Amino acid sequence: MAAYDTIIRNGQVADGTGKPLFAADVALNGDRIVAVEAPGSLNGDNEIDAKGKVVAPGFIDVHTHDDTYIIEHPLMEMKASQGVTTVVCGNCGISASPYGRSDIPHLISLAVKKTENLAKTFAEFASKVDAAKPAINGAFLVGHSLLRFDAMNLDVGREATPVEIKAMREQLDLALEQGAIGMSSGLFYPPAMAATTDEVAEVAKPLGKWGAVYTAHMRDESEDILGSMNETFEIGRRAGASIVVSHHKCAGRANFGRMSETLPKFTDAMKQQEIAFDVYPYVAGSTILRKDMLWRCDKVLISWSDSVPGVSGRDLTDIAAEMGCSIDEACDRLQPAGAIYFMMDEKDVQSAMSHAGSMIGSDGIPFDTHPHPRLWGTFPRVLGHYSRDLKLFPLEDAVRRMTSYSAKRFRLSERGEIKAGFYADICIFDPATVIDTATFDTPMTPAKGIDTVLCNGAVAWRDGKPGGGRSGRVLRRGAM
Ligand code: ZN
Ligand code: CU
Repeated sequence: MAAYDTIIRNGQVADGTGKPLFAADVALNGDRIVAVEAPGSLNGDNEIDAKGKVVAPGFIDVHTHDDTYIIEHPLMEMKASQGVTTVVCGNCGISASPYGRSDIPHLISLAVKKTENLAKTFAEFASKVDAAKPAINGAFLVGHSLLRFDAMNLDVGREATPVEIKAMREQLDLALEQGAIGMSSGLFYPPAMAATTDEVAEVAKPLGKWGAVYTAHMRDESEDILGSMNETFEIGRRAGASIVVSHHKCAGRANFGRMSETLPKFTDAMKQQEIAFDVYPYVAGSTILRKDMLWRCDKVLISWSDSVPGVSGRDLTDIAAEMGCSIDEACDRLQPAGAIYFMMDEKDVQSAMSHAGSMIGSDGIPFDTHPHPRLWGTFPRVLGHYSRDLKLFPLEDAVRRMTSYSAKRFRLSERGEIKAGFYADICIFDPATVIDTATFDTPMTPAKGIDTVLCNGAVAWRDGKPGGGRSGRVLRRGAM
C-alpha cells in the first residue's frame, strides 16, 4: 500500500544547505515533503523518476519586479522554466501597494502596467495575487518610492516633511502587519534621490518590530559606492532590520576591480549586523532609459520604447545614426523607454557571486518587449555556466545560494531545503545539461536541463512546458 502521494525516486539530492549530494528518495504528501530516505525504501501513488538528475529545493528569485506580472501571467513561464518556485517582488523601491492613487508614475510602470493591479492596502493586493492562482509563490516588499509618490502627492523632487514621513511609516507598518516581508528603497532613482538617509531610516522603523527585511538599490553603485554602502548599513542598523543590498555591482570602467574594496567591506560589516546581497550573472544591467547612465557604458541596447516602435533589442548608437541625431537626442525621442547597459567587469561579477554574502536574484524586468536575458536565464546560467563549466563554486553551493540562504535572509520559513516538514517546492534538473539559452539577441527562450518543477507539491513545469499546477501562494510575513 502506498503511504505517500508522490515519490521522487533515484535522484541525487542537493538539499539546499550546501552539504554534498546524496542518493535518496523524497516523499511528498499534499504540499509538504514528508520523508527523505534511502533509495528504494518508500512507495507512492505517483512516482517521478529522477535517475541521473539532481533533486533540489525550488529556487528563490530574491530580486524581481514580477509584482503584477504574476497576476496577469500566473503561469510565470519565464521563472518556472528555470526551476524558480518563489519570486521576491517589490525591489528597488517599486511596488504595487499600498497606494491610494490611480496613476502609475514612470518608474513604477516598470512593474505595474494596469491601474486595476494597484491596491490601497497590502492585504487587498495580496488577495489579487492569490485570486490569480499563480503556478509559483510570491513574497512582496513595499517600495519606498511608491510610498513617497503616495504620501507626497507625486511631488517627490524634495525631502519629505515630518508629516509625510509619518504617513509613509504608518503605511509600511500596516503593510507589514498584513504580510509584506519588508521594504525596498531605490535612492538611485529620481523619485527617491531627494530622500535623505534620515528620511529612509525613519520610514523604515517598523521593519525591526516585525523582523522584516530592508533591501536597497543603493544611491550610488559607482564612484561613491563605499559611501552608499555606509548609508545602507546605517539605515538597516537604525531600523533594526536585516539588509540585502540589491544587484551588487561596481558600475562603469572607472570602477572595474573595485570589488576588492566593496567585498572586504561587506565581510567586515557582516560581523556586526545581518547583511547579504544579491547578484545576477551578467555584465550588463537593465532599467529605464536614462541619459545620465549612457556615458558609463560600453554599449546600450533598447529593451522597449513607447514612442518609437521596432527599436527593441537594437543598439542605441545605431538607432541614433539612423535617426541622424546625437545619442542624447535619440534618447529623448525614444522616451518613455527601457535599456540594457553593459557596464560591469566579468571578474567583478564572479567575485561578487562567490562571496559569502551573495545569493542569486535575476532582476529580470518581465514586461519589457526585448528583455535582458537574465529574465529567462539567471538560475540555469549560474548552475551550468558558472558552477559546472567555470567551476566558480560547487553545484551544492550554487544551489545553496538560490535556496536555503535566500529563504533565511528573506525569512521565508519552511522553504529552501529538501527536508521532511518543509513545503514541497522542488526543482529536478540534469546537472550535465542544465544551461541558459536566453541571449541578448534572443532573450525569451527557456533553459535546457530543467526537468520537473513542483510548487507546494503541484507540477508548475515539466518537459519544457507549464505543468498545470496552480498552487503558488502569497508568502505572508509571519504566516507562511
Ligand atoms: Zn534595482
Ligand atoms: Cu531591480
